[in-house]
Amino acid sequence: MTLKTLTGMKDLLPEEAGLWQKVEVQARQLFEHYSYQEIRTPLLEDTNLFIRGIGSQTGVVQKEMYTFNDKGDELVTLRPEGTASVVRAYIEHSLQAQDPTTKLYYFGPMFRYERPQKGRLRQFHQIGAELLGPLSPFADAEVIQLLDQLVRRLGVNDFELRLNSLGCALCRPAFYQKLQSYLKERLEKLCEDCKKRYEKNPLRVFDCKNETCIKLLEKAPVILDDFCSFCRNHFDQVKTSLDETKTSYVIFPRMARGLDYYEKTAFELVSSQLGAQNAFAGGGRYDRLVKELGGPDVPGVGFAIGMERLILLLKDQPITHPQTKIYIAWLGEVPFKKAREVALNLRKSGLICDMDFEAKSLKAQLRRANKLNFTHVIILGEDEVKNNKAQVKNFATQKQEEVALDQLKGHFIKG
Ligand code: HAM
Repeated sequence: MTLKTLTGMKDLLPEEAGLWQKVEVQARQLFEHYSYQEIRTPLLEDTNLFIRGIGSQTGVVQKEMYTFNDKGDELVTLRPEGTASVVRAYIEHSLQAQDPTTKLYYFGPMFRYERPQKGRLRQFHQIGAELLGPLSPFADAEVIQLLDQLVRRLGVNDFELRLNSLGCALCRPAFYQKLQSYLKERLEKLCEDCKKRYEKNPLRVFDCKNETCIKLLEKAPVILDDFCSFCRNHFDQVKTSLDETKTSYVIFPRMARGLDYYEKTAFELVSSQLGAQNAFAGGGRYDRLVKELGGPDVPGVGFAIGMERLILLLKDQPITHPQTKIYIAWLGEVPFKKAREVALNLRKSGLICDMDFEAKSLKAQLRRANKLNFTHVIILGEDEVKNNKAQVKNFATQKQEEVALDQLKGHFIKG
């Protein structure tokens, strides 16, 4: 029997890896412009981190975690998201002692045992950013602008930025009561999951995908109407700051997010091109998470982009190959030796260069170079080597010229 990848897990093949690298390079660059620094945390963590961080009543913790006892009988979990791990590392290494503001970014795989479908995998990847320290609404706005700028720079312009505020510890209890009394009157019609949510965490009902529940919730109270003055001011300033920078958004009062650590600002980027799993990024403010995980009283705000969903949106973009890529075609034993020497020298000069190790016809070598998107071919035959020259063909212009072997580097690196 041949072995295959597990359900919901995917190989990233070289033909697609180029696009992933392009995204990562651009993301890294932009993060650095906003003075974020990279953090890498382990894939495996103590299960309690996610129970306490994400919330025991969330779908992620209840149904989706890859949790098992390791050989030392520790209960461990493959991280389902990055924020809890980053906050754990922030506390463990007292990063707040270095500066009151900490800006961190990360790339990497996350694991959720979900039913796979288009844009939904069991191992997926996120690009995330966490800004720890400031309470200011301008920090929320800056995080949203960074996200908006990043996806636009990558070429995604057709999306909706959905914005909401989830209130805080001050205004939520009264709102929960109001929502619960609305739900109580409709309890019989709600799905089994929502019946449980009604008791333990009523806000979660807005997460439900059940058609009947969605209909029943159309007239449910929303927290935007019941804010405390702190949340009202905070939200107003986030919106003003986004307006000032012409970052467009839509207020979405029923957006709940799937993780319990959020309060105040929450947001998602949604694209109609993605089908059912239409959110390709999400984030928000989490002012109590650091404290809840045993750290100091430090607020935070951040986001994560779902890489696979982002790539689905980028797939139709033409891939450009502006970089010089040189293929050395050789004919005969002496030229083969010379080709290896030329390749070594060009690579030392920082040029992309490749060649065959088996003797092939010139036609076959040119065909391969063309197929692999090489921009130039250096042709080395017995006569060329004898005269210390090579034929250089430019695929774009179809021009072929003779270049002295010691001039090859200068031919490709001008100035
Ligand atoms: P999240 O909304 O759970 O937030 O995930 C962020 C993004 O990851 C989603 O918008 C989606 O694009 C992608 N994603 C989630 N689950 C899957 C899946 N099974 N398959 C493919 N893609 C998926 C968080 O994870 C938060 N940690 C974001 C955050 C950072 N909030 C504050 N800081």
